[in-house]
Amino acid sequence: MNASKTSTSQPLVLGIETSCDETAVGIVAGRRLLANVIASSVEEHERFGGVVPEIASRAHLEAIWPAIERATAEAKVSLSDLDAIAVTAGPGLVGALLVGVSAANGLALALDKPLYGVNHLASHVAVDLLTHEKEFRPSIALLVSGGHSSILKVERLSSSFEAMGQTLDDAAGEAFDKIARILGLGFPGGPLIDREAKSGKVTIDFPRGMTAAKDQEDHRFDFSFSGLKTAVSRYLKATPDYPRADVAASFQEAVVDVLTMKALDACKETGIDSLLIGGGVAANSRLREMAKVRAEAAGVEVRIPPAILCTDNGAMVAVLGATLVTDGIAPSPRGIAADSSAPVALVAW
Ligand code: KG4
Ligand code: ZN
Repeated sequence: MNASKTSTSQPLVLGIETSCDETAVGIVAGRRLLANVIASSVEEHERFGGVVPEIASRAHLEAIWPAIERATAEAKVSLSDLDAIAVTAGPGLVGALLVGVSAANGLALALDKPLYGVNHLASHVAVDLLTHEKEFRPSIALLVSGGHSSILKVERLSSSFEAMGQTLDDAAGEAFDKIARILGLGFPGGPLIDREAKSGKVTIDFPRGMTAAKDQEDHRFDFSFSGLKTAVSRYLKATPDYPRADVAASFQEAVVDVLTMKALDACKETGIDSLLIGGGVAANSRLREMAKVRAEAAGVEVRIPPAILCTDNGAMVAVLGATLVTDGIAPSPRGIAADSSAPVALVAW
């Protein structure tokens, strides 16, 4: 580790993210974004209707080095200028994670730079630092993507994360992807349902998972989307000439209603008046709208990054790495491994 560099207040950090289907490399100087390069293999997965791990891993292998080169060129820095390297070490698809982790291990060793293996979910929260000047304050984070749906209590970005709730079955983005497929809209489903819903109306009262009185006791902050999925499938079977845009709008409303309701309930329970929303589903226009209205009514400040920073990216990894450096956290040991099922509470390795 290069101890002399870790005291800087604006550390230059390169972040690598390969946990799913985006090969992403970001560079920050402290909280300033210098480069955010994203190569997605999403089109290669389209005909399978979901991410195929082997295809994602191979695509990462091809894309990783060009992405690193493009990011350094965009940021106008050379690798030797870096103060540290950060990489998503988990959770995610193990073969996909391994490509980023191996690249980061190799770079750190060859350049003799400190390396931070970081948690994917923690970096979805840390990305918030890139879009405003204020100090981070204790927040509730609602993280909703293709791989995760969690409500976290975050006291301090570099150390203190607590899982309050999570999905018991599908992730929110997965539910969007599955319903889009049965509606014949394509993959990935989230943006397609979002667009389709704009020309529809909320006319069908689909169920709100995990909101019954008995669930409020055991699963107050947990999610479940399987009942909703079944209800939509049944409706489609029973209604041959179904109004597709209305189904999309009604399905979306059911998901967004539960997500925002539970996130704000977590704010109320903890007395925390700051809510961050991240992950790919945070790009959803109805979620953004409803979260703002409900948060305002509850006296909670809500922050949702621009869509490009909501979906997986390397800038979020880099800014979490920079936070770890400024907070004086020790780097990870050399030769870290990927951990596909890393727990939320583990921010850095
Ligand atoms: O965070 P992300 O890029 O990758 C994962 O870690 O999964 O999230 C991808 C997910 C996909 O399921 C996609 O359908 C969903 O985010 N998504 C959306 C929207 N844009 C992306 N879901 C709803 N509305 C959107 N506008
Ligand atoms: Zn993600």
